[in-house]
Amino acid sequence: MYQAEETRYERMEYRRCGNSGIRLPRLALGLWHNFGEVNPQDNCRRMVRQAFDLGINHFDLANNYGPPPGAAETMFGRIFRADLTPYRDELIISSKAGYLMWPGPYGEWGSRKSLLASLEQSLRRLGLDYVDIFYSHRYDPETPLEETMGALAQAVRQGKALYAGLSNYPPAAFRRAVMLLRELNTPCLIHQCRYSMLAREPERELLGDGERLGVGFIAFCPLAQGLLTSRYLNGIPADSRAARPIPFLQPDNVAATIDRVRRLNALAERRGQTLAQMALAWTMRRPGLTSVLIGASRPEQIVENVGCLTGPNFTAAELAAIEAILPSE
Ligand SMILES: NC(=O)c1ccc[n+]([C@@H]2O[C@H](COP(=O)([O-])OP(=O)(O)OC[C@H]3O[C@@H](n4cnc5c(N)ncnc54)[C@H](OP(=O)(O)O)[C@@H]3O)[C@@H](O)[C@H]2O)c1
Repeated sequence: MYQAEETRYERMEYRRCGNSGIRLPRLALGLWHNFGEVNPQDNCRRMVRQAFDLGINHFDLANNYGPPPGAAETMFGRIFRADLTPYRDELIISSKAGYLMWPGPYGEWGSRKSLLASLEQSLRRLGLDYVDIFYSHRYDPETPLEETMGALAQAVRQGKALYAGLSNYPPAAFRRAVMLLRELNTPCLIHQCRYSMLAREPERELLGDGERLGVGFIAFCPLAQGLLTSRYLNGIPADSRAARPIPFLQPDNVAATIDRVRRLNALAERRGQTLAQMALAWTMRRPGLTSVLIGASRPEQIVENVGCLTGPNFTAAELAAIEAILPSE
C-alpha cells in the first residue's frame, strides 16, 4: 500500500492564493496530457505519487482532458481510490467546464445547464463528492456573465466545489466576473491562464488586476509544453509531445523557437540550473503569481522541476540577458 513520503511538506513552498484562506503549492501538476486511455496507468500512478511525495498536493483536471475527453478524470479517480483516499483533506483537486464535452447545445461554453451538468459528470468520473476548485474554463461572450457566475456560485453553495475559479478570461470580463462572484458571496479564488517566458500576455493587465482584486494566479504551460526544457535541444525525440499527431505542439513550433531556447539553455547552465528550472523560477518570481501548473510525462521531470525552488535568485544582469533573448511583445 502507498504511504506518502513523511517529508513531503519540507521542500515545497506554499503561497496564499489571493485574499483567500488557502495556500497553494508553488508547483501544481496538470493532467491535460499523458493521463488518457492510451497512457499506461502505472506511469500515471508513479507521477501522481512522485508529485505528492514532493509536496505537490494540487492536481488540475478538466472535463475534456484525455483522450478521449473524460479519461483523465477517470484515470485520476482510479489512482485516488488506490493511493490517495486517506489524504483527501491534504489535496486540492480542480476541474473545469467550458470546452466541447458532449454533443448538442449544452456540451460546451458557459450556461448554467452546461456547467452544472458537467460538474456532476466530473464528480462521477473522479469518484468524489466535491472538487476543491471548479472553473469556468473559458469566457462565453454569448451567455450573460451573471448566469455563468451564478452557476459557479451555485456549485459552491451546493458543496460540490469549495472554491470558484476562472480560466482564460480576457481582462475586462475577468474584472466583471470577479465583481459578480463577490456579490454572490463566493469570491473568485484564482485565475488560470497561459504564462511563460514565451507567452507574456498576462503581464499587460491580468497579473496586476488579479493582485489588486485579491485573486490568485496560476500559470499554465509554464514550460511552453516542453519547449522551455532540454527536450528539443537536439531534435524532436520520438516520445515527445511535438512528435505526436496532436495540434497543440508541432515541429514548426520547435523550429521557430529553438535558437532562443538554446541561448536560454546556455544561460541556465551558467546559473547551475536546467532550462526547465530556470524557466519556472523566472515565471514564479512575478508578484501576484501563486503557482505554476506543470505537465509531465514521467516522474523524473517532476523531480527536476521541483528543483526550481532551490536555485539562485536572478541578478539584474541575468534578467536583462533573458529579456534580450525573449521575443518582443
Ligand atoms: N486552462 C486551460 O485552458 C489550460 C490549457 C492548457 C493547459 N492547462 C493546464 O496546465 C497543465 C500543464 O500544461 P502543459 O502540460 O502544457 O505544461 P508544461 O509544463 O508547459 O509542459 C509539460 C511538458 O513539458 C515536458 N517537460 C516537463 N518537464 C520537463 C523536464 N524537466 N524535462 C524535459 N521535458 C519536460 C513534457 O513533455 P513530454 O510529454 O514531451 O515529455 C511535459 O509533458 C495542464 O495539464 C492543464 O492542467 C490549462
